[in-house]
Amino acid sequence: MRVVTDRQEMAQLCREARRPLGLVPTMGALHRGHLALVEQARRESATLAATIFVNPAQFGPQEDLAGYPRDLEHDLELLKSAGVDLVYVPAVEQVYPPGFDTWVEVGRLASRLEGARRPGHFRGVATVVTKLLSLTRPDRAYFGQKDAQQTRVIKQLVRDLDLGVEVVVAPTVREPDGLALSSRNAYLTTEQRRAAPVVYRALCRAEQLWQRGEREGGRLRREVRMALQSERLVEEIDYVSVADAATLEELDRVAGPALVSLAVKLGAPHLIDNITLE
Ligand code: PAJ
Repeated sequence: MRVVTDRQEMAQLCREARRPLGLVPTMGALHRGHLALVEQARRESATLAATIFVNPAQFGPQEDLAGYPRDLEHDLELLKSAGVDLVYVPAVEQVYPPGFDTWVEVGRLASRLEGARRPGHFRGVATVVTKLLSLTRPDRAYFGQKDAQQTRVIKQLVRDLDLGVEVVVAPTVREPDGLALSSRNAYLTTEQRRAAPVVYRALCRAEQLWQRGEREGGRLRREVRMALQSERLVEEIDYVSVADAATLEELDRVAGPALVSLAVKLGAPHLIDNITLE
């Protein structure tokens, strides 16, 4: 496994790589969710590249950039055992050199849900993902359904900017009690960790009602909220959404595939999760 910090070297190695080339972008602090992406990508690629970059541009001023969990050595070991060929670990100046002044702004899709909760977040994500894709030019890039809106935003920018890469979305990896794996789960206290499965339980409540024939968006949102409120450690519900799975527009009635997504504040971290009804 080759660890690369220089952008020109990374571009060169990718140009020379055996195809198909797969890319798995991450911010490190790797867990089984990331590794599932890597394993799928490994099976489907002749050359597999990953990136580890905690992207300052996608963190708000009040967010956890400085405290974001980092463990590069362990991450590299995990990627090596998973059979990754190339890892790009740029310093901030490699990605945003002095004078950097171009941003990728996805419209409607990026303005709602996480975009409304975290102003500027998707501008940072869209910009760094565009840069990573244009540097490495992979055949396929892999993203997790855990960040459902992020996958939609990335598909949109790939289409709008003619980036010509296949965006592959892999299922959410969960703990046995349903909690979606996330690097930010490390912030949970023991008590909060015990309460956290309420998030997935609330989503399952929507699925259960939907399976019984409930199609009213408002009713489904209300039931998810009630399930969340049953846990006293949930300090704040940022949003509960039942939206068209493709456009993320809020639904009055569920007819086609729908994305049920939510964000809650549980102690320090906000937890996000989603399921698809289809
Ligand atoms: P990060 O949070 O490190 O996640 C990297 C990739 O792993 C993302 O595609 C994310 O959706 C996926 N992932 C995280 N938890 C998962 C889980 N429990 N199951 C399946 N996949 C999971 O998302 C980012 O980094 C950044 O925004 C990035 C795309 C790298 C741009 O900076």
